[in-house]
Amino acid sequence: MSLISTKEMLLKAQREGYAIPAFNIHNLETIQVVLQAASDLKSPVILAATPSTVKYANENYLLSIIEKGSKLNDIPLTFHLDHHENVEDIKNIIKLGCKSVMIDASKYEFRKNVDIVKDVVDFAHEYGATVEAELGKLGGVEDDLKVDEKDSFLTDPNEAYEFVKLTGVDSLAVAIGTAHGLYKSEPKLDFERLEKIKSLVDVPLVLHGASGVPYEAVQTAIEKGICKVNIATELKIPFSNAIKEYFNENPNASDPRQYLVPAKHAMYDVVVEKIKMCKSENKANDNSYNI
Ligand code: 13P
Repeated sequence: MSLISTKEMLLKAQREGYAIPAFNIHNLETIQVVLQAASDLKSPVILAATPSTVKYANENYLLSIIEKGSKLNDIPLTFHLDHHENVEDIKNIIKLGCKSVMIDASKYEFRKNVDIVKDVVDFAHEYGATVEAELGKLGGVEDDLKVDEKDSFLTDPNEAYEFVKLTGVDSLAVAIGTAHGLYKSEPKLDFERLEKIKSLVDVPLVLHGASGVPYEAVQTAIEKGICKVNIATELKIPFSNAIKEYFNENPNASDPRQYLVPAKHAMYDVVVEKIKMCKSENKANDNSYNI
């Protein structure tokens, strides 16, 4: 398969009551791990890159590696820009072949958020790319994106309805009580709010900040309309812990082909667990993707 937009993926997940897992990747190794796990479990998957990842790894390398990965793995897969704020960067990366982007203008007031998102939607659709936007604001830390808890706020369902109508956006990230990064205490999700949003908005809904959210809470959110689940922190921690452990046991080690292997294994196990949580296992294997 080649890289696809997230449109078919998310609409199929919405129809069938599961979610597409979106894993934040950073380099060749993390891309390999996610693709291996998704391929082993026959799950559609989204490989997501924040602006820091694009800056670190370069969009051309990322696209080439992931495009090659899509040919080697027979699963629906896409490369997605996560939390990008710079409209020109987004447009340039779409021109290179990226089929799925998030424009995050959630820090602006409603009208400005609408205008920025609409501009990206109009551009992206010309290239067959799909667009996610965010309404409401998640707290926490995701790379360079830092939102103090006091500045975060939940999505207003009526505004969500207006927002989707005015922008033509393909999917909507909603703030229902999750946050990016680690939680100080167990997050409580506002399912009533999610149900209200779902009753007013027909585009697939996205849950950010899924690391540390109990498995059952994520599955309830999926039952109530979440079709894409974003996971970053919970992959980074086992990856880096395994490297630390390797160096504790082998203080003179210097070969990345050795010390990265346990890191990949540790991350693989979490990716498998999260795919099962999203109920996307065995959803890659049918012919309903028109690609
Ligand atoms: P976590 O780091 O909390 O898993 O959040 C990931 C995310 O929402 C990426 O957009």
